Order: sequence, then C-alpha cells, then structure tokens
Amino acid sequence: MMKVFVTRVIPAAGKKILEDAGLSITEWTEKRALSRDELIAHCLDHDALLSASTKIDSVFLNACKHLKVIALLSVGFDNVDVAEASRLKIPVGNTPGVLSKATADAAFLLMLSTSRKAFYQHKKIAKGQWGFFEPTADLGIELDGKTLGVFGLGKIGEEMARRCRGAYGMKILYHNRSRNEQAEQELGAEWVSFEDLLSQSDVLSVHTALTAETKGKFDLESFKKMKPNAIFVNTARGSIHVEKDLKSALEQGLIWGAGLDVTDPEPMDPLNPLLDFPNVSVLPHIGSATLETRNAMAELAANNIVAGLKGEQLPYPVNPEIY
Ligand code: DGY
Repeated sequence: MMKVFVTRVIPAAGKKILEDAGLSITEWTEKRALSRDELIAHCLDHDALLSASTKIDSVFLNACKHLKVIALLSVGFDNVDVAEASRLKIPVGNTPGVLSKATADAAFLLMLSTSRKAFYQHKKIAKGQWGFFEPTADLGIELDGKTLGVFGLGKIGEEMARRCRGAYGMKILYHNRSRNEQAEQELGAEWVSFEDLLSQSDVLSVHTALTAETKGKFDLESFKKMKPNAIFVNTARGSIHVEKDLKSALEQGLIWGAGLDVTDPEPMDPLNPLLDFPNVSVLPHIGSATLETRNAMAELAANNIVAGLKGEQLPYPVNPEIY
C-alpha cells in the first residue's frame, strides 16, 4: 500500500479521495509546524507528500528525492524550491482556480472594513470605549465611483474587480506583465503602467504571486506615489510590501489605510503597532478559509497525489516541464 504524509489536518473530502484510491494516510495532527528534520524523517517512510503551509527547500528535496509527488494545499508555491524539484523530476501540484472567489471576498472585506475603520471600532467597543457621539470623529471614506487598481489581474484579481464594479461601479485599472483582454472586455479594465496604477488608484489591491520581481515592490517610493486617500490591500503575500515602509506611509499620511490578509513574518507579532492603527485591518491569512473552498482545495490536492502515485501527469502541475 502506498503511503501519503500530510502536514496538517485536511478536510475529509480530500482524505476520502486518498482512501478511495487505496492509499494509507499519515496526518500530522500537532498544532505546530514540523521542523525540516521532522519532515524529512516522516517523508523517508512515505511515497507522497501533501503539504500545507510547509517550506519545501532544496535540502528537504535532496533528502527525499524518492517522493513520487508533492501536492500543495495552496495555489501559491513560493515556499517550494520548484527548480530543484524539477531537477530531481519530482512533480509538484497546486490548487488553482478554486480559491479565487473566497480570496477576492477577503480582499473586498478588507477594503470595506478599512474604509469604515471597522476593526478599530470593534476593538473600541470591546475596550469599553463606545463613547460619546461626535459627528466628526473617526469618519470613514466611501468607495462609490472610486478607482480600483489591481496589481496582478489574474483569476483572483478579476473576482475582486467584478465585486468592486458590481457593488460600487468602480473604474478598474490594472498592471500585469501581459494584457488580460478578457477582463478588459468584460470589466472594462484598463492596462496602465505601474506608475499610473500607483498614482490613479483609490484602492490598490495586490493579487500577484510572490517572485523575485514582486518582492518588496510596495516600498516607501511606491507609497509616496499613491493618493493620500488611497487604501492599500494585500491578500497575496506579505513580502510584496515592505511593512516598515507601509507603517511610515500611514504615519505620514501618504496613503489613507491598509487591509492585510498577509504579513511578513506570519504570524504577525501581537504587539505590532499596525494592529492599533485606526485605518488598518489585518486578518491572519484566511483568504481561502471557507468550508467550500478548503474542501475543493483538498480535493484538488488529493487528485494531484493520486495521479502522481499512478505515474500520471498531475491535473494541476506547477512544473509541467518535467514531463
Ligand atoms: C494560497 O493558496 O496560496 C493561499 O495563500 C494559502 O496559502
């Protein structure tokens, strides 16, 4: 019987696919991340790895080159040394498509809650500071008719644009390496340079992958080019913005607010001053955390494992070049 090591407790829908395929599952159930050595020790005894939120580096891959497949419970694969996996001919799979709507919902939630200082207001009530009604205190800003700038208009960015257009009639600008003609036609999205995206967006939402090119892209120089009433939203990866620069930008009023589902590092330090800013909303990387989406992700990951163990091409490979 072939054996699959799973680094977190995953939804039953995914386990059922593995069990129906006659595979034996070992699930890591402790509520702490495995160290690299622990991961290696477990995987040495398994044929496949289903990995959630675990770093897969070249040391691990070289110690576990017997693995027939690595399936990620994520669409992002920046925590995997894909080049090394490809060199070792280990197929790596991800879960594209199924989390676009849930992640766009999180971006929309962060945009709206930041615009109305909702997390801050909630915290005030919990601290007994509901207080005295002041018509000019803690006012938010409205989103109707504003401009959404999408950095990385792929499937998740399109869902965010669709929501903003439907709810607020927002104008959609985007910056990608290549044009998204489908979104241009359907959503009236307009390609602009990165500089124009910065200077024209009222809400700038990040939906790109973390790469060498996007790491640190939103630094002080970028924030300086944004509108003082702009809201910055990042549901992609925390290191695409430079946190200390974001903090300075907010303190100096270079931008109006920020909504973050991703931070660097994760988890965010509970004493991080950003958590006390009225115009900042932070969530603990829950973009894909709905029942429906996590079930669908677990199913895709399990299907990648089953295909890989049969020696077939994965339905969702991130390194198809190995075939
Ligand atoms: C993804 O799928 O990449 C999400 O960010 C969860 O890590």
